[in-house]
Amino acid sequence: MKDLVSSLGPVSAVIGAQWGDEGKGKIIDILAEHYDVIARACGGANAGHTIVVGGKKHVFRLLPSGALHAASGKDIFLGAGMVIHIPTLMEEIGLLENAGVAIRERLWISGSAHVVFEYHKDIDALQEERRGDRKIGTTKRGIGPAFADKAARCGLRFSMMDTDEAIHMHLRERERDIRDMYGAKIDVKDELNGVLPHREFLASRTARPDMLHDLIRDKRRVLIEGAQATLLDIDHGTYPYVTSSSTTASGALQGLGLPPKALKSCIGVAKAYCTRVGEGAFVTEAEEEAAKRLRERGGEYGSVTGRPRRCGWLHLPDLRYSAHINGFDCWNITKLDVLDTEPEILVGTGVSAAGKPAYERLPGWKQPTTGIRKFDDLPQNARQFIEFIEKQTLLPVRLIGTGPGREEMIVR
Ligand code: IMP
Repeated sequence: MKDLVSSLGPVSAVIGAQWGDEGKGKIIDILAEHYDVIARACGGANAGHTIVVGGKKHVFRLLPSGALHAASGKDIFLGAGMVIHIPTLMEEIGLLENAGVAIRERLWISGSAHVVFEYHKDIDALQEERRGDRKIGTTKRGIGPAFADKAARCGLRFSMMDTDEAIHMHLRERERDIRDMYGAKIDVKDELNGVLPHREFLASRTARPDMLHDLIRDKRRVLIEGAQATLLDIDHGTYPYVTSSSTTASGALQGLGLPPKALKSCIGVAKAYCTRVGEGAFVTEAEEEAAKRLRERGGEYGSVTGRPRRCGWLHLPDLRYSAHINGFDCWNITKLDVLDTEPEILVGTGVSAAGKPAYERLPGWKQPTTGIRKFDDLPQNARQFIEFIEKQTLLPVRLIGTGPGREEMIVR
């Protein structure tokens, strides 16, 4: 681990290579120990990572999973590329506090992050309904409408909430537009109730624009926790079945206001197979029987919505594409043990003119790998599978997840 950490350098990013839910939380949790600041750059409460707090499982959506790191005291930074639903943020802060984890004094929010109101969620649901059979399958957390307001320059930034009246005025202005555009209503009182009690606290946690730069200059180490993943990126993903933010490494830098040169390394995270929540093409989606096996063994149910995830096989062209877009230095292949019972491991190598996937069929290993911590202890066929990924993507696999526990990881 020491070698890996020193090779990553002082500013490193962990980015999903598929459609999200690759299991980024675990590597973040492990690496967080070696960093001073954990930063989330983009997206909002559409992300979800399950964290055990005080013996109980909770799903965190806005705070990065690194927020709960055992050795707390790390600064937590929410970047300008985020859209934040304030009641959800306060609920997460409360959950951590109830479990004895202090967070208020180490949380920093960019003044340029935008506020997600209830009306954004209502519009999200309304737009999905109107799409009929062309639904995106959003998480209905108001993400698209909040980013639409941001791009249309009618959103509310955290830095604009300097008085109660400023928020009130903003909502009154939006009220008319929302009625005209969607025939929907804003419940201004309800919106204000969700935000005003927290305004002063949030103002006290608003980061100076150059805060991250100063921290980096002062040799503080910054770990960037990517949210969602490359194939859901608004520009480079499988549009229109994408989220509304920039989920790539460069998107994260933009979302944090850091120059490209600040990033010293980037770890690509991919599952040993592949899942997708929501609609959109998925060429290596497995037949129902295999999909069911992967779903059950991998616990593949959406952490935000509880939806069963669509399951399928690794698709090498996607991995290569993500590696190009993000400039990955290495892979973290997660959940290898989910494949332990498969007689044959399919790996997508491309798509025929008819849109059908081509597969390389690798022999399964049919024995447990759960908890294995040394590469050489893996069954030969599992090692061959990993080496095949390395050869096909021209990147080393430096981390391999072999179970949900923190220790269940091979580091090479
Ligand atoms: P939205 O981000 O709620 O607008 O949803 C757009 C698409 O991105 C849908 O297919 C969602 O299921 C997907 N999505 C958004 N966030 C995540 C995530 O954290 N993991 C997996 N899929 C996500």
